[in-house]
Amino acid sequence: MMESHLKAIKVTDRVWWVGAIDWGLKEFHGYKTARGTTYNAYLVLADKITLIDTVKAPFKEEMYQRIASVIGDPAKIDIVVSNHAEMDHSGSLPDVIREVQPEKVYASVMGVKTLDAHFRIGDKLTAVKTGDSISLGNMSVAFVETKMLHWPDSMFSYIPEEKILFSQDGFGMHFATDKLFVEENDWAVVEQEMKKYYANILLPFSPQVLKLLEDFPKLGLDVEIIATDHGPIWRGKMLAKPFELYKIWATQAPENRAVLIYSTMWHSTEKMAVAIADGIREGGSDVEVLPLDAHSRSDVATHVLCAGALVVGSPTINNGMYPATADVLTYIRGLRPRNLLGVAFGSFGWSGEAVAQVNEYLAGMKAELLTDGMKVKYVPAEDDLKKCFELGLQIGKALKERAAAKA
Ligand code: FEO
Repeated sequence: MMESHLKAIKVTDRVWWVGAIDWGLKEFHGYKTARGTTYNAYLVLADKITLIDTVKAPFKEEMYQRIASVIGDPAKIDIVVSNHAEMDHSGSLPDVIREVQPEKVYASVMGVKTLDAHFRIGDKLTAVKTGDSISLGNMSVAFVETKMLHWPDSMFSYIPEEKILFSQDGFGMHFATDKLFVEENDWAVVEQEMKKYYANILLPFSPQVLKLLEDFPKLGLDVEIIATDHGPIWRGKMLAKPFELYKIWATQAPENRAVLIYSTMWHSTEKMAVAIADGIREGGSDVEVLPLDAHSRSDVATHVLCAGALVVGSPTINNGMYPATADVLTYIRGLRPRNLLGVAFGSFGWSGEAVAQVNEYLAGMKAELLTDGMKVKYVPAEDDLKKCFELGLQIGKALKERAAAKA
C-alpha cells in the first residue's frame, strides 16, 4: 500500500477526482492565470479500474497519492484514457504507462499521433473514434471526438452507468479550488474565470463550438455530471449553464460596449483616450478603458469577448507601434474576435506610422474600420481633444445603433 496523505474527492460512488491543484500558477503560455488552476484526473472504480487523463508532469506524485487513497497501489489501474495530448494533461502519461503498466491506453486517432510526437509512445496506445465504446466489465466508456476544441486530438469520454461526461478542456477554467463542484464556489468567480478561459483558449474555435452545441444533443447522451480537466465540476441545477454561456460567447453577438486600450509615452495618447472614452459614453455606449501598463493581454482578451468595438491608442516609437500595443494586438488578432468596429488613434512626433499599423491589425480581425484613425502631433491641443470627443461620439452612436438594430 502506497503511503498517502493527500486524498481523492468523491464525484460519485464509483468515480473519484484524483487530480492536482496548482495554486501558484500565474501564467499559462501567455495567459495570466491569476487564480491558479487544477489538472483534473478521474479514477473510475469499475471491474477494470480506469484512469481518465493524467496531470502535468511535476504533479504526478500528487495524483498518485490521491489514487492511493482510494485503491492503495496505483498499479491496480487497468485502463488509461487520454482525452487530450497537451502536456498539462499528458505530461505524466509516459511515467504512468511505465510505472503502472496498464493493459490498454486509449486516445483519439489524432491523440495517438500527437502523443507519439510528444513522447514516442504510439506503440503503447490504442486509437478510438466517435461512436466507439470500450467495456470496463460492469461499466463502459464511449468516445466523442471534438477536433479543434481545442487541439486536433481533443475528445470527450462518457460513462453511461454514471451519466458522467469527461469534457477535457471544454467547459473548464483556470481556477485553483478545493471545492470540487461549481455550486460550492462563488458563481461570479466561476463565470469570470470560465469566460476568461473561453476568450483566451477557445475563441478561435467558436465555429466548431457552435457545431458541437448543435450536434451534441443528437448523440442522446444522458449527462448528469460534466467533469472537466480544469476547475470545478458541473452538475444539478448548474448543468445547463456551460452550454448557455458557450452559445453566447461562440455567437459573439456584439454588445453595446466598447473596449478602449491604449499605451502612452508622455500622456498625449492617454489624453486622447480619455476624450474619446467620454465621447463614447455621451454617444450612448458603455466603454471599458484599459491602459496596457495595467492590464494583461489575457484580461484584454476577456473584455474583447462580445464587445461591440475595439478602440486602440498607440504612440509611434521608432516608426512603429508601442511594444505593449503590438504584443496585445498580436495576441488578440490570433484569437480571432469577430463583429467588432475598429478605431485607431495616437500621438506621434515626426513619422506617425502606429495608427496605420494598428488599422492593419484591426483589419486582420475583420473589424469594420469606422475611420482612417486619428493622429495628433506631439501633445493634443484643446481643438484636438474636441475632435477626439467627437470621434468617441461617433463610435458610441454607431454602437448604440447596432444594438438597437439587433433588438
Ligand atoms: Fe488543458 Fe489544452 O490543455
